[in-house]
Amino acid sequence: MNFKEQESTPVFSALEAYAKEDITHFDVPGHKKRNSPELASAFGEKILKMDANSTPALDMLGNPTGVIAQSERLLADAFGADEAFMLVNGSTSGVQYMILTACRPSEKIIVPRNVHKSAINALIMSGAHPVFVAPEADLEYGITNGVKFENYKKAILENPDAKAVFVINPTYFGAASDLRSIVKLAHRHKMAVLVDEAHGGHFPFHPDLPVSAMEAGADMSAVSLHKTCGAFTQCSALLLNERHFRRSEVRAVINLFQTTSASYLLMSSIDIARSKLALRGDSIFGGLLPLLDESKRAINHTPGLSVLTREYIDGAGVYDYDETKIVVRVNELGLTGFEAYNLLKSDYNLQAELSDSYVVLCIASVGDDAATIARLTYAFSDISARFSGKRNPFTVPMDGILTKPKGVVNPRDAFYGNTRQVPIDSAAGEICADSIMIYPPGIPLAIPGEQLTREIIDYYKFYRAQGGIVVNDEENPGLIKILG
Ligand SMILES: Cc1ncc(COP(=O)(O)O)c(C=O)c1O
Repeated sequence: MNFKEQESTPVFSALEAYAKEDITHFDVPGHKKRNSPELASAFGEKILKMDANSTPALDMLGNPTGVIAQSERLLADAFGADEAFMLVNGSTSGVQYMILTACRPSEKIIVPRNVHKSAINALIMSGAHPVFVAPEADLEYGITNGVKFENYKKAILENPDAKAVFVINPTYFGAASDLRSIVKLAHRHKMAVLVDEAHGGHFPFHPDLPVSAMEAGADMSAVSLHKTCGAFTQCSALLLNERHFRRSEVRAVINLFQTTSASYLLMSSIDIARSKLALRGDSIFGGLLPLLDESKRAINHTPGLSVLTREYIDGAGVYDYDETKIVVRVNELGLTGFEAYNLLKSDYNLQAELSDSYVVLCIASVGDDAATIARLTYAFSDISARFSGKRNPFTVPMDGILTKPKGVVNPRDAFYGNTRQVPIDSAAGEICADSIMIYPPGIPLAIPGEQLTREIIDYYKFYRAQGGIVVNDEENPGLIKILG
């Protein structure tokens, strides 16, 4: 990486200069940077002045040749990619662009079953045929992890016609699969490797973090710069190693969907976050990881609590582990993860990322320091002091996370098929035309084209009863869309 060049922020610098000019605007946005005291008082004059549309000075995201092209080159260099595309609709769009670039209708893609809904939606859009591989499940924590290499290997060998292999690096809970081996095998079989790195944007910036997709030789990766890297919400990057795909074909897919009015505030925040990570990521994460280590040791010595660390690495579903994820198991205290999540907010003013039956997930990032980590450690020790020995441990049947729904119809055909609504309770045996997701993390219980079973329906009801958020496309509660 060229460190000197990484100091520059071409989009942000051009925008700042443009905002200072005394221009009378006869272009959009319609607030004209002046005629909205409401926006100015809500967000500040500077934001209003910097909310600009594409102009020759500011370049154009759909076909960049100026400052955006320069920023994208710096982004690629920082992340060790041949090419990078700035995205303003999250890794949701990045995941979709990767799958739509790699797969035509009916072509096969090997996908972990615990993918984010953006991947399922991409299957619907592309008409690709998923070959699902099962992630490893941890019934003690009630979570799913990565997919062991042997499962990928079996799927690759049994489906030599597959076009691509999809990998999550890491899962929401921090588990990374054996990406290097998966890439090597997939490439030997002429398959592209697409990586959902929504939660792994920080990986290239410290050697004690799991290997990044680009470093492992994957073909494309979608990175949420807003999640762990410090850019504004919605900012992501699509990274490309030009082996299977050319820059122009990826660009063509992006331009099928991407707004023609991308926000310069968002793109500028990508510039600023990228420059900071490139120049100081190593020292930021070098400072953060020992703090997390200390905090996790303390939590692991706190009665009734346990937290995942690199000791969790098992060479299979957890081939490597991202220590910036703080997955705390609270059920021994007699609390559900949902209760702990609410307690953290109501009693300690801490906002966790998500909760599940047994665990609460907190995310550490470039935004943390000794003070924030100490507050979190204190909150967990206080929760333990308040609840330890007062309640029986909370346990529930965890078999639901092992459900392996049977795909009967291609997801796209099911989504666009003739459908009807039925009460979810009577839908066992029917073919689902809906997506039932636990949200967050947005992982599907059933997707269009899969056969609903009693087990899935019971898990859906159990999850809702516990306070988990389960969403489906059907807006009437208790109903579900099925085929036929
Ligand atoms: C595993 C995974 N992939 C993709 C996404 C989508 O990322 P974004 O929120 O940047 O659109 C998420 C969002 O939480 C996710 O958890």
